[in-house]
Amino acid sequence: MRPVILDVDTGLDDACALLLAARHPELDLKAVTCVGGNVGLDQVVVNTLTVLDAAGRPDVPVGRGAALPLLQPVRTAPHVHGADGLGDLDWPRSVRTPDARHAVELLRDALLEGARTGELVTLIPLAPMTNIALLLRTYPEAAAGLREIVFMGGAAGIGNATASAEFNIWTDPEAAAITLAAAGELGIPLTMYGLDVFYDVVIALDEAKALGGSQSAELARRLIEKRSELYKSDGASIGDGGAVCAVIDPEGLTTQAFPVRVELSGSWSRGRTVVDTRDWSGDLTIDPFGAAPPVVQVATAVDGRRYADLWLATVR
Ligand code: BDR
Ligand code: CA
Repeated sequence: MRPVILDVDTGLDDACALLLAARHPELDLKAVTCVGGNVGLDQVVVNTLTVLDAAGRPDVPVGRGAALPLLQPVRTAPHVHGADGLGDLDWPRSVRTPDARHAVELLRDALLEGARTGELVTLIPLAPMTNIALLLRTYPEAAAGLREIVFMGGAAGIGNATASAEFNIWTDPEAAAITLAAAGELGIPLTMYGLDVFYDVVIALDEAKALGGSQSAELARRLIEKRSELYKSDGASIGDGGAVCAVIDPEGLTTQAFPVRVELSGSWSRGRTVVDTRDWSGDLTIDPFGAAPPVVQVATAVDGRRYADLWLATVR
């Protein structure tokens, strides 16, 4: 089994990712950490515990992390996820409490354990990277327990929060810049599951309506129905769930290695992931910006049908 940790701002599509990670037999979900993003942190924690309850995984430790980005206010997205982040569904909310440790301490403990046992962890950030940046700055030694980081964030093409920037990176650009730079320096492999593929793993409404018979399948159906309603469409993407599919089944994803930088200024471009698609195979030391940028496997295409089938087979 592959040890994984998800960092989430649950979120309808984070919920799709959680159901998959919690139920897939090849994944060992060590922990889930929460950060403010799609909704405020308190609601993210409740939503995350609720989804893990539905998945039959109350055993997974959930850590409460950063409420706010490093430098700017949090800007939530009720138009995408509903006022409560889970589509305001009529669904019983968890009354459990999270782990007593802060998310950063929970991450540190799980990663140090991974380093000790040799079971290196795949970290899957699906939200603003505030917790991850704080971890790498506070406990850099914990990086020894990381096998790779597969993150949902950024775009080589158009953004969504702005024309330039994707929501997760736009919410906390400094945290993303710290995370990418630290991973680059430490040699931790990075995969960017960005907007270039994010919308391409689609569950048709008919497929969703056929789900049922368990709490997990029932919630999965309601999540897709709600996303379809919000997008005024007869189906919906599993969004963040695709990044978990990419960890389970990397063959379904096409990636290319490119240097990636996060834009930290600019009137209209702050939070953009600047993916350098030039032929850069030459000398990176001539980089006009100084230090060599982190090289990231950027997702350029996805087999959407393959990942949709993987998700349906796991959550039902
Ligand atoms: C990302 O932002 C959030 O709305 C989603 O949960 C996803 O992680 C897409 O830009
Ligand atoms: Ca998310």
